[in-house]
Formats: sequence, C-alpha cells, structure tokens
Amino acid sequence: MTRSAKDFFAPLAVGAPAPLREIPARPSRAIHFFDPGNEKMAAKVPQMVGTVDVLLGNLEDAVKAENKEKARQGLVDIGRSTDFGKTQLWTRVNSLDSPWALDDLTTLVTEIGDTLDVIMVPKVQGAEDIHYVDRLLAQLEAKAGLTKPLQVHAILETARGVANIEEICAASPRMQGLSLGPADLAADRRMKTTRVGGGHPGYLVRQDPQRDDLGVPQYDGPRATYQQDLWHYTIARMVDACAMHGIYPYYGPFGDIKDTVACEDQFRNAFLLGCVGAWSLHPAQIAIAHKVFSPSVEDVAHARRVIAAMGDGTGAVMIDGKMEDDASVKQCQVMVALAEELAA
Ligand code: GLV
Ligand code: MG
Repeated sequence: MTRSAKDFFAPLAVGAPAPLREIPARPSRAIHFFDPGNEKMAAKVPQMVGTVDVLLGNLEDAVKAENKEKARQGLVDIGRSTDFGKTQLWTRVNSLDSPWALDDLTTLVTEIGDTLDVIMVPKVQGAEDIHYVDRLLAQLEAKAGLTKPLQVHAILETARGVANIEEICAASPRMQGLSLGPADLAADRRMKTTRVGGGHPGYLVRQDPQRDDLGVPQYDGPRATYQQDLWHYTIARMVDACAMHGIYPYYGPFGDIKDTVACEDQFRNAFLLGCVGAWSLHPAQIAIAHKVFSPSVEDVAHARRVIAAMGDGTGAVMIDGKMEDDASVKQCQVMVALAEELAA
C-alpha cells in the first residue's frame, strides 16, 4: 500500500506558514560530498564535523567501479568511529539498476543505520524506485533493530524523473527532499552542455536594437546580453512539488570549483526560488552555501518588524512606504522560521 506523505504532516494552522515536517529536520544548507574510499579525504572527515550541516559519503558517480567496495567499507568505518554531533551523515548509494545498490543499502543500514540520517538515491525515475527502497529499508531497519526511520532523498536527473516528480515526492513518508542533478539530467535530456551545473555563455537573451517608434522608454546603452538560467524550469517544478508534499528542494552540484562568483549566484537564485541548500564538492563551496542559504540579518530584522506591526496577521500596514498585508506577513514568517531553525 502506498502511504501518502501528507499523512505524516501536521494540519496547518490558519494563517501560519506551513511547517515543513513533523519529523524534526535539521538545517542542511550545504551537503558536503566526500569519497569514503579516498584515505586522504576520509581522514579529514572527523575534523569537518561541526563545520558543515551535512557530510555525505558518496558511493555513486565519481567513485571508480573497482573502488565501490572500498568506498562502502570506508563509510562503515567512518560511521562507526566518528561522533557526528549536530552534523548529519548522509550517503549517496549507487543507482538502483547498478550491481552495487543492494549491497550498499544492506551493508550501510545494518552496520551504521543508527548513525546515518538520509539515504540519497540517484537517478530516481518514478514512485516505484522509492517504494522499492522504502520496503527494503523497513526490512533492514527491523533486522538491525533500529528505532529511528531512515529518510530518503531523491536526485532528479532524468527526464522521466522530472515528469514523475509529484509521485516521487508522495511515494513515502520517508521522503526528505529532492536535489537537482544537472549533469545527468542534461545528458538524459540531450542538452548540448558538458558542465556540471551552472549556466552557459551561449544561453542568453540579447537586448533589441533601439527603436523610436514604440512610444515607451527604452534602454539606450550598448546592445547588452544577459545569460539565462538553464535550470530555472526544473528548479521551479521541484520547489512546487516539494512545497506541496512538505519536503525540501535542493540545488545540486556546481562543478566549476574556481568560479566562486557564479557558484554563489546559482545557489542564491535557487535560495530565492525556495531551495534550502545545495551540494558542496569542495570545502570552498561550504561557506558559500552556508551564507547563501541563511536569510540575511537585514531580511530577518525587516521580517520581524512586519510581523510585529501586523498584530494578528490580518489587514494592512504601511512600512517604509510599502504596503504589507496578510500575504507579506506569511513570507516574513517563513524567513523568521528559517532563521530560528538555523539558530537552534
Ligand atoms: C549529479 O549527480 C548530477 O548528475 O548532476
Ligand atoms: Mg548524477
């Protein structure tokens, strides 16, 4: 039987922003990937505890086929020997059509299931993939005597996965969130890019030439070009589907490690649209994600002012020449709730 994710979520109080989950979810602005089979990287993991919201032991792409077992065992060793404190430990297992996925799930849940928080499942195509993982986890949790259910995070990286986004979000109350997988998704859609996330200088709009016959004010500088966001459509779909089902949307990887400016822009666009975090592929991206996915002090102060001025949250007030009403107070509550969650 398919359980609806909605069954797990508290009814909304009238006028209050939706609480995302009944299961307490800790902030996860940066999901930092490491290869548990790489001794140098693995040795750094204990020092990174407390410096990042999520440490993710990656077993899938970027780990060579001959190193899959080493990576899996490396993660077991790290999970057993490390106190993660408030930092969450996630893993990305191999895709369900690979020869490694079953052993990944079986080993990790029975060996370190009490330390793991979230299992990221790549290349999810539809609800059937989540149902499979959900049933398997239930059996493995029972076998291992675990009391805390593992959560599941799906990477959206196939055209079919995007088409089935609603049913994926609703497939299990374990669903914690969705990430955009721009590299695999680009390949699956036959996009003509060779990057891991981010924009492309060829995907642009160009300012029309100046015309005098339109009777409207026009920009009269040089003919400018503006790069567009290749991922806007997919992120917007993810945000709506996740909001509807009470789970979290994340931007995924940004592969150009040196381009910290473009990385920050891409992360901020995702944050403004509703995403709560992004992946970090290099320690330099952790600080970017922590900064971008935290509301600014100014925004939170303004939000508190609006909430205080709006009293019971109904009606309208003027603040600094701008009209605020029931709808703007809800936006402000979202901002303050996030700030409080991050400060807790
Ligand atoms: C991530 O896995 C991606 O394919 O972008
Ligand atoms: Mg991928």
